[in-house]
Amino acid sequence: MFDNELREGLTYDDVLLEPRKSEVESRGEVDLSTNFTKGVSLRIPLVSANMDTVTEHSMAIALARLGGIGIIHRFMSIEREAEEVRKVKRSEAFVIEQPYTIHAGATVAEAKEFMNEKDVSGLLVVDSHKKLLGIVSLRDVRFADDEQSKVTEVMTSREKMVVAPPSVSLENARTMIRDRRIEKLPLVDDSNTVCGLITARDVDRLSKPSGAVKDAKGRLLVGAAVGVRGDFLERARELVKAEVDALVLDVAHGHSTAVIKSIQLLKHEHPDTPLVAGNVATAQGTRDLISAGADAVKVGIGPGAACTTRSVTGAGVPQLTAVLECSLEASSYGIPVIADGGVKNPGDVTKALAAGASSVMMGSVFAGTDESPGYFITRDGIKYKAYRGMASLGANVSRRQLDRMDIDPEEISQIVPEGVEARVPYSGRLEEVVRQYIGGLRSGMSYCGAKSLAELRKNAVFIRLTPAGVSESYQKLGARS
Ligand code: XMP
Repeated sequence: MFDNELREGLTYDDVLLEPRKSEVESRGEVDLSTNFTKGVSLRIPLVSANMDTVTEHSMAIALARLGGIGIIHRFMSIEREAEEVRKVKRSEAFVIEQPYTIHAGATVAEAKEFMNEKDVSGLLVVDSHKKLLGIVSLRDVRFADDEQSKVTEVMTSREKMVVAPPSVSLENARTMIRDRRIEKLPLVDDSNTVCGLITARDVDRLSKPSGAVKDAKGRLLVGAAVGVRGDFLERARELVKAEVDALVLDVAHGHSTAVIKSIQLLKHEHPDTPLVAGNVATAQGTRDLISAGADAVKVGIGPGAACTTRSVTGAGVPQLTAVLECSLEASSYGIPVIADGGVKNPGDVTKALAAGASSVMMGSVFAGTDESPGYFITRDGIKYKAYRGMASLGANVSRRQLDRMDIDPEEISQIVPEGVEARVPYSGRLEEVVRQYIGGLRSGMSYCGAKSLAELRKNAVFIRLTPAGVSESYQKLGARS
């Protein structure tokens, strides 16, 4: 029985943006800056999905350097997720405040393992009072004859090292690194206690103009996901301690009392950490999450490339309609919307932003890049990377394995997956993929006569397509899909 008229839902492929008179003279003059949440700004409106085949620290670092933001997934231990956040935070800072150190009694093998684990090329060697004794590099340990010898035997000792006081300026650090041709400049106080580290790579990068998004201390921005069950409050605490820039409360069906309660709890404990909540697909869902305290709302029920929610459950809202309605609602509160899922090509990003979203989250598009954590697969000589829905059977099993190793086969047969395990074509460096997407967006904005995302929203006129219009638009010779 219906108590309302059946509404119609549209998605990205159902529409095009009508071209308008443009005063944009070059694509470069288009401003893509936006709000990810209340209080967190981006230079490009792209967000990488919190999925285990999409975002860990490498993706988050690469995307933040390009002006977007990555959301570390939560399908790992609390300690590891917090460490992923720290890896992003340490990657670009001018001063690494707590550099990795190793004690003088450690062996070469231990130093090698620690460097691999932390993904760094050198360690400061210290005594039990954190006094600097030397520095050991990957090169020192790689070619050591005896892996059981002590690091002190292969390190460069303190007397031969160049160090600086904790107050050193970027300019002076750059001069010392350049003149003395060193890779790492440890900072020590008057009593030779380690207080920090400056690396040549970071100094070089900071000297170049950059489109990166950074916090007040010059470190890259990063978000991290939490759920609503079990130890999620403890997880959030550790992520906040690791100085995450935004928490993302990520639940498949976000319009629920459990999510509303969790938003209130999280905002009560962490009033200063921006909180994204979702996923929803209706105006009412958006309003309820905002009323509970959400600083941004993530929109998308079932549009994702690896999602089977709509076919398994029968529920969902076509993504363009969901973004239009949720954005309209959220805009009256000044809260940004993140359009999550269903982007297959750059034009979809333009449409999502024109429909009112402030940023766009993508999974499958980013999963094919070098920076994603998914493994490689080769089929018929073509390279792919693994991509899986977080509600797929494999992801469900991995999640249970995080808690305990012995899983009852009966328990596995009870799982009803709402996602699939798939693969996406390998697409090379993230920078190249982002270049294509941002190029398409800039052009799309120029077609709409918009110099900013606010103008795009204001100027956008969608036109609906017939089936013939859809095939005229997307079925091209040599097209990807
Ligand atoms: P794209 O289309 O960019 O979508 O690959 C990424 C988004 O898909 C959502 N997601 C899922 N949805 N079942 C679902 O119904 C799943 O197993 C699943 N895994 C991810 C999620 O919102 C993500 O950002």
